[in-house]
Amino acid sequence: MSEILDKDYEGGLSRRQLFRGAGAAALGAALISAGGLSLASAALAKEAASPWPYKKLDVDEVGRIAYENYFTKFCAGTVARGLLFPLRDKVGGPYGSFPIDIVDWAHGGVAGWGTVCGTLPGAGIVVGLVAGDQAENIVNDLMFWYSENNLPIYKPARVIKAAIANRSVSGTPMCHISVGKWMKKEGVGFFTPQRMDRCARLSADIAMHTARLLNALAEGKYVPSHKALANVKQFGITAQLNCTDCHGSAVPGVPGS
Ligand code: HEC
Repeated sequence: MSEILDKDYEGGLSRRQLFRGAGAAALGAALISAGGLSLASAALAKEAASPWPYKKLDVDEVGRIAYENYFTKFCAGTVARGLLFPLRDKVGGPYGSFPIDIVDWAHGGVAGWGTVCGTLPGAGIVVGLVAGDQAENIVNDLMFWYSENNLPIYKPARVIKAAIANRSVSGTPMCHISVGKWMKKEGVGFFTPQRMDRCARLSADIAMHTARLLNALAEGKYVPSHKALANVKQFGITAQLNCTDCHGSAVPGVPGS
């Protein structure tokens, strides 16, 4: 799949620019007929219009695609594919030439560093494309949802690597802590079929919850579950929720508050 997208992309950069959203595409067409392609490209480069058009997604289909693609694309890439493959089929247009592999670097908590779980930037690029001024609220809600829930919930119809017995609450969106707590509970190492299946299922969960929130937004029913910048405002420092995981009972006082 990504080969097809890559080819479209390399051969069609100007085409991609032209398809930046329905409004931009119409503007592009008008400018081309008015005064030639270089004028159109200059105008559209400034435009960089979002949001892109969105049609409500089948949440179960999103989960299946995310689960199945995990084993070759990993967390970030597979969540993006779970959301973008159906949009390419349902909406077409700009999605046909979107290079999904631009987010694949985020796997393993960003290039294996165990920082933010790759599912979240994977979801975030799609949310950023389609959710306009609600994008940050939706990503914020996803960070909380990831941190607070007992995951993975998703049960594949056909298990690809291994059956697993456990779910865990990470308390944080950090890959290292999230996967480490689960590995401890399950009693398995990182390079095991069980751990892979866990991260594939968790990828399905995040892709599906993203689809639920985007569907609600499309229906005009999305209401943020958490206040914008909730953590930094509460703690007086950019922060996640689980202070005591790292600091024990001696959470340092925050300078300036
Ligand atoms: C993932 C681990 C982790 C989490 C979670 C975490 N911290 Fe920290 N924090 C650290 C480390 C490591 C340092 C650096 C400590 C040092 O240099 O002695 C630090 C430093 C700080 C500092 C700077 C002052 C100092 O004494 O070092 C403050 C303030 C702080 N943390 C507050 C918080 C609060 C409040 C939370 C929760 C909202 C939190 N931390 C969550 C790991 C963490």
